[in-house]
Amino acid sequence: MNMERFERLLAGYGPSGREGPVRAILEETLAGHVDSLTTDALGNLIALRKGDGTGRRILVAAHADHIGLAVVDADENGFLRVCAVGGVRAAGMAAQHVVSSRGVCGVVGADGDAKPEVKIEQLYIDIGAGSREEALAQAEIGEIFVARPRVSRLGEHRIASPAMDDRVACAVLAEAMLALPAGLKNEVAAVFTAQEEVGTRGAGPAAYALRPDMGLALDVTLTGDTPQARPKLPIRLGGGAAVKIMDRSAICSPQVVSLLLETAQREQIPVQREVLPAGGTDAGAIQRSRGGVPAGVISIPCRYVHSAAETVDLRDVEAALALLLAVLQTA
Ligand code: CO
Ligand code: ZN
Repeated sequence: MNMERFERLLAGYGPSGREGPVRAILEETLAGHVDSLTTDALGNLIALRKGDGTGRRILVAAHADHIGLAVVDADENGFLRVCAVGGVRAAGMAAQHVVSSRGVCGVVGADGDAKPEVKIEQLYIDIGAGSREEALAQAEIGEIFVARPRVSRLGEHRIASPAMDDRVACAVLAEAMLALPAGLKNEVAAVFTAQEEVGTRGAGPAAYALRPDMGLALDVTLTGDTPQARPKLPIRLGGGAAVKIMDRSAICSPQVVSLLLETAQREQIPVQREVLPAGGTDAGAIQRSRGGVPAGVISIPCRYVHSAAETVDLRDVEAALALLLAVLQTA
């Protein structure tokens, strides 16, 4: 994993529907290293590596977007009122530093105290404005704020940042496209999808257009390795990449699950079996495209998902990359 490219992706502004800056970083990385690089009407960035014509067409999706807070209005004292873009946990956003597409900085407050049960409607963004007019001149209605990018290394192997979901997967997919050797049997369509966090809206149309023989999503998954973690899961940081069996969006296709598990075993890549009682990924949308597409997920275990402290273990990231590369070359 190239850490410089990874950290650039983590710093990119890109809430759902506004993936442009993240796309630009990926385009710069991949230009000249793939056979084609296009952006569709929804904002999916599609990077294609042609095969030799004897293999399959494999779509690999990693979502470029992440969660945010959209400006609904400002009150007479200049506090911005917001709604959620994606699965924002209100308590997780309170007291966070946030930034807009124009670089306007703010901090998130909550009406009264930020109790655990605080709702999005009780949050506001303080951008230092003193009136409604002043506030809306800085951040118009519809502007989207995201947690201000920053990266912390935790110990030797771990890294924490907002937007880890799913920029870590964008980084893995970009590295895989750069590392794939010439003379590939399979055709690989890497899709950096738009609007996953608001209901996997980008992946479906991309899969429809690309007609893949198999689909893989790369995304983060929850872990059960923190104090009193809920739901109780055996997934842990440092245990390897996770091979998803099912979540709320998809029962992964058994042949794809077997392919991933067998490839991992053959290549001695550490993996964990994953059943996630909540959540979903682009695999759900890909699987239901056209007449149906066999689909699966390589997950990267992540603590504190949908907070500004999303934390992954770099050994799991490397395992996910190794598994993806092995599958693309041998499937
Ligand atoms: Co997410
Ligand atoms: Zn995600």
